[in-house]
Amino acid sequence: MSNNGILVIGSSNTDMTVKTKALPRPGETVLGGVFTMGAGGKGANQAVAAQRLGGKVKFICKVGKDIFGDNSIAQYKKEGLDTSGVIRSELPSGVALISVDEHAENCIVVASGANGDLTEADIDACAKDIKSCGILLLQLETPIPSVFKAAKMAHEAGATVVLNPAPACPLPEELFKYIDLFIPNETELSTFSGLPVDDVASAEKAAAAMQAKGVGKLIVTMGSKGALICEGGPSVFVPAHKVKAVDTTAAGDTFCGALCVAVSEGKSLQEAAKFACAASALTVQKIGAQNSIPFRKEINL
Ligand code: RIB
Repeated sequence: MSNNGILVIGSSNTDMTVKTKALPRPGETVLGGVFTMGAGGKGANQAVAAQRLGGKVKFICKVGKDIFGDNSIAQYKKEGLDTSGVIRSELPSGVALISVDEHAENCIVVASGANGDLTEADIDACAKDIKSCGILLLQLETPIPSVFKAAKMAHEAGATVVLNPAPACPLPEELFKYIDLFIPNETELSTFSGLPVDDVASAEKAAAAMQAKGVGKLIVTMGSKGALICEGGPSVFVPAHKVKAVDTTAAGDTFCGALCVAVSEGKSLQEAAKFACAASALTVQKIGAQNSIPFRKEINL
């Protein structure tokens, strides 16, 4: 890969989404609205976002030898992604069951399937790409030992390692020192730092705690409020665009993909976060994951 290339290693899912007035409580059945099926998965969403927004992107993931896997690969090729690192597994392709309420909030259950089969041996097999990329973008929907191995390999080779720690799960503390840029939301930051996070001041404290654990820089995504950049000195807050959200699925993924594109173009983190906020503001105005990710020409910056 070229040294301004973006390598995304992560999950690929097929999302099955139903709109509903209110999310069901445990034990409750609710009648929903329209059903849609589309390409998703945090890894795939971030790769597609980076590609649509102007990056040179290679995507490494594992999908099943089934119709969902076939469709996903066809879709990634159509997007122009380098899919030479997509691996077929004996396990079924990942599926996500998503409910979205009238306030655009969602609730997601993922059947990981093949995503859970991305092994350390698979990471070793793509060492050449990992060691030669400019930016490695990771999430937590694939096995943690593989995430760890890829992060260490890329960091030691001089790449910028970006981790979107979603969904939050226990991580080895040693991983943090290989993360150059950590992009959690408020809940994830609170989980990993062990501190409450509900406003800018508490996010700054929690970000400093993560830096003490070894993380380089942080961008804390704060939903409809905006994003907080913590580089070590005084933090900088980038406000979100005020829009009418219909579905927040993949908003964080769009932010991460967009951010990596801007960083690969040499932009400062502040400029990159402005670009990423503009992109994710477009994503929340449409239903679905990859269905809603914008193209570069849609961003007026
Ligand atoms: O971040 C949104 C994604 O989370 C969805 O596309 C779904 O597949 C789950 O992985």
